[in-house]
Amino acid sequence: MNEEFAREVKEGLSAKPKYLSSKWFYDEIGDQLFVNIMNMPEYYLTDAEFEIFSEQTTEIVRALTEDVSKMALYELGAGDGTKTIELLKSMNSNEFVYHPIDISQNALDNLKVRLHNELPEIEAKPLQGEYFQVLDSLSVDNATNKVILFLGSNLGNMYDDVAKEFMGQLAQSMQSGDKLLLGLDKIKSVDVVLPAYNDKQGYTRDFNLNLLSRINKELDGDFDVASFQHVPKYDEESGIASSALVSSKKQKVNIGKISKTFHFEEGEPIHTEISRKYDLQILDKVIEGSGLRIIREFNDSRKYFMNVLLIKS
Ligand code: AVI
Repeated sequence: MNEEFAREVKEGLSAKPKYLSSKWFYDEIGDQLFVNIMNMPEYYLTDAEFEIFSEQTTEIVRALTEDVSKMALYELGAGDGTKTIELLKSMNSNEFVYHPIDISQNALDNLKVRLHNELPEIEAKPLQGEYFQVLDSLSVDNATNKVILFLGSNLGNMYDDVAKEFMGQLAQSMQSGDKLLLGLDKIKSVDVVLPAYNDKQGYTRDFNLNLLSRINKELDGDFDVASFQHVPKYDEESGIASSALVSSKKQKVNIGKISKTFHFEEGEPIHTEISRKYDLQILDKVIEGSGLRIIREFNDSRKYFMNVLLIKS
């Protein structure tokens, strides 16, 4: 049994209001559903970041490699690698080693096969583990600069205080002159954002509900998954999209492996995810005091998404 999952489920479902962390979305089924989400027309984030990488490659590569004599390229949570491969194609393969970092060995194995097929000239050395454990364990000589990629709006799944702590910790694993390319979804109107989290095909609904199926499977739960509804929201003012699973009836749920019964009222939500949208002021607050400084911003043509380049002072 995954003890951390069990502990967090117990804590989250005992809280008022109830919550579960979106990090538990990503089991094998969740990984596949997320790939489906990324390929949907409503999920504009994928196309927007891909457009930045394919239309502004030369500029981005120049900015990443400027004032960097020897580079080691790291990527936090590379996913299926589609966007990164676009960038790697334009980089001189002799000048760096690419290290995707991920907790999932399965994701890294798939990526390695894909890289081998599509870009055999790139030297790829995947590193399995938690981001910071891996980054802290690296001994990089002083002549080498780390360039870290953290793409796909992954920072947006953290509350601002957590994002601030994360960026502080990330900055501590960097040396002066090291760079970070951060992919962030921008604040924009509700009619663009909300459909991305409420697609017609129902992939996002299934992605959310899979969390309850995962609890049933791994923790011996008896959630009646069909009696929960995926309810996404977006507040244009704050730039925060959030999702909840709402119980459509009064019911109780037993979870065997944590020996607990949880009671739900009709209409009671379990908060499952935030997807924060950014502007540079919000990012400034998140990196304040970390030693990171914004040096460039790349936008797609619709200005939906930005890749921000930061440097450690
Ligand atoms: C991984 N992350 C950036 C996605 C997002 O847009 O927040 C996860 C996701 N949740 C629902 N759809 C996609």
